[in-house]
Amino acid sequence: MLRLLLFLASIVLAAQYAAGLVTPSLASAPRDGITAAGALVQAFGAHDDRLVFQGTPQYKKLNGDYLSTFNSELEPVLIFLPSTSADVAKFVKCVQPLVGLGLVYIAVRGGGQQPTPACNNVAQGVTVDLRNMAGITVNPTANSVTLEVEAGVRWGTVYQILQPLGLGLGVAGGRSNTNGVGGLVLSGGLSFFSSRDGFITDNVISFEVVLASGQVVTADPWTNADLYKAMRGGGNNFGIMTKVTMRTFQQGSLYGGSGFYPPQSFPSQVDAIVSELNSPTTSETHLMVSVAYSKRFEAFGGTVGLNQVYYTAPTAEPPQILEPFTDVQPQFDVLNSMRNMTLIDAANELTTPNTNDQRVAYMNLHVKMGSATLKSASDIYLAALYRFSLRKTSNNDGNGLGLGPSNGPIMSVLLVAWWDNPGDDGLVLGTGKSILEQIRSEASARGTLIPFIYMDYAFNDQDVIGSYGSGNKKFLQTVSKSGIF
Ligand SMILES: Cc1cc2nc3c(=O)[nH]c(=O)nc-3n(C[C@H](O)[C@H](O)[C@H](O)COP(=O)(O)OP(=O)(O)OC[C@H]3O[C@@H](n4cnc5c(N)ncnc54)[C@H](O)[C@@H]3O)c2cc1C
Ligand SMILES: *[C@@H]1O[C@H](CO)[C@@H](O)[C@H](O)[C@H]1NC(C)=O
Repeated sequence: MLRLLLFLASIVLAAQYAAGLVTPSLASAPRDGITAAGALVQAFGAHDDRLVFQGTPQYKKLNGDYLSTFNSELEPVLIFLPSTSADVAKFVKCVQPLVGLGLVYIAVRGGGQQPTPACNNVAQGVTVDLRNMAGITVNPTANSVTLEVEAGVRWGTVYQILQPLGLGLGVAGGRSNTNGVGGLVLSGGLSFFSSRDGFITDNVISFEVVLASGQVVTADPWTNADLYKAMRGGGNNFGIMTKVTMRTFQQGSLYGGSGFYPPQSFPSQVDAIVSELNSPTTSETHLMVSVAYSKRFEAFGGTVGLNQVYYTAPTAEPPQILEPFTDVQPQFDVLNSMRNMTLIDAANELTTPNTNDQRVAYMNLHVKMGSATLKSASDIYLAALYRFSLRKTSNNDGNGLGLGPSNGPIMSVLLVAWWDNPGDDGLVLGTGKSILEQIRSEASARGTLIPFIYMDYAFNDQDVIGSYGSGNKKFLQTVSKSGIF
C-alpha cells in the first residue's frame, strides 16, 4: 500500500519552549561490533539473557520490530536488553573505550517508532533496546501528581495506567499509543496539549541518565541544569536516558477526531487554520490539516483532505471553534469520527499498527503561519503527486530548539510516505525531497521560511541540530562533550 501525506500541524508557541534539538543519532557506517560483543560477553557472560545475538529467533523478532524497514534492515551484531539503570551503566562502561576510539557505534532504541533511517539501530554495531525498562510509578504529593516512567515505556501504557486512577489526570505525551517515551521527551514532542502546555519535553521535571562515564545522574533545573536543558530537545547526544519524571494535570474529556473530504476544499481549510492560529482565542485547540494520497480513495482520484482537530477542555456542546474544520462540505460522512472522547480514545484513533514491513519516510520544514505559502505548498504537493501517480508506483499495493514565542505561531510542514517496494525508494524519496525543496524555496521567496527542522520528523539528510541556530548548536555541543555521545 502506498500512502503519501502532506501534513500541516500547528505549533502555537506558548509561554514555554524546549531546549535545542541535536542531530539524529549515530550514523550507520559499518564498524566492528564483534569486538564490542566480545567485551560484553566477558562482562556479562555468554549466556546472559540481556545479550541477544544475531542469528537467534529472539534477535529476529526484536530487530524486525521497528516502524520502518529502513531501521529493521540494519543488523547490529548484538542487541543489549537492560532491565535496570545499573545494567545500562555496566554496558556503557564496557563499550565506552571501543566507542571512544571509533571502533564501534552503538544505537539506542526506545519504542522504535521514529522513521529516520539509522536513528535507532546500527548495522554491525550494538543496539541497546530499552523495552524491558517498563516501570511506571505514580507519585501523589500534596498538590500535584508526578509520574516516573522508565525509558522503555510507550505512551499508550501511561494513559492506561492513569485513566483507572479516576483522578481525571492527563499527561503531555505522544498522540499514538505506540510512540516511545524516550524519543519524544528528548526531541521536543508534540502532544494533544501542545498549545496549552508546550512541547512534551516542557513537561519533564527530571531525567535519570547514564553518561558516557557510566555514571548514573539526575538532570533537573537544580542538578546538572545544562544537561537538563540540552536533553530537552537535544535527542540522544548526551547519554542514555533511563527514567523521566513528568508532571500531570487535571484533564477531563476532549472533543475531537478526524474528518475526510475531497481535496478541493483543502485551500479553504488552510485559510481556516491560518485565521484561527494567527489570532487564537483559546489555547485548548490542537489542529492538524493534511492532504494525502491513498489507494483507499482511488475511486475519487486518490487524493483526500484530512482534518484531525481537537478541543482539549471539557465541553457540553461541540465547540464552535472547531466548526470551520468539522463542517467542511462535502465530506465523507461515514469516516467522520468527531466525538467526545478520553485521552485513551484520542490516542487509540491515531495509532497505526506496526506492520514491520513498511518503508516509512518523514521529512519536514517549518514556515510562518500564512495562507499563501501553505496553499502553494499544497499545489506543489498535488502537482508532484500527479506526476508521481503517472509512474504507476501505486500498484505496489501493498529548549535549545532555537524556537521561541517570537517565532510563533508556525506551521510544521511534514511529508509522510509509506510504501513497501525497496525498488521505489529512489522515486518516493526523490519526489519527497523535490516537493520539500520547492516548498522551501517558495517559502524562502515569500520570507516565511523558519529554519527549524523537527528531529522526530526529519529524514537522515536533514541537519536538525544546525537548524536550531549556531548559538544553540554550540551550547549543545559543549554539553555533549562527554566522550561517546
Ligand atoms: C504513527 C506515528 C505517530 C506519531 N505521533 C507523534 C506525536 O504525536 N508527536 C510527536 O512529536 N511525534 C510523533 N511521532 C514521531 C515519533 O513519536 C517520534 O519519532 C519518537 O521519537 C518516537 O519515540 P520512540 O521512543 O519510539 O523512538 P525510537 O525510534 O526508539 O528513538 C528515537 C530516537 O530517540 C533516541 N532515544 C530513544 N530513547 C532514548 C533514551 N532512553 N535515551 C537516549 N536516546 C533515546 C533514539 O536513539 C533515536 O535517535 C509519530 C510517529 C508515528 C509513526
Ligand atoms: C462530553 O462528556 C462530558 C462528560 O461525560 C459531558 O459533561 C459533556 O456534556 C459531553 N460533551 C458533549 C459535547 O457531548
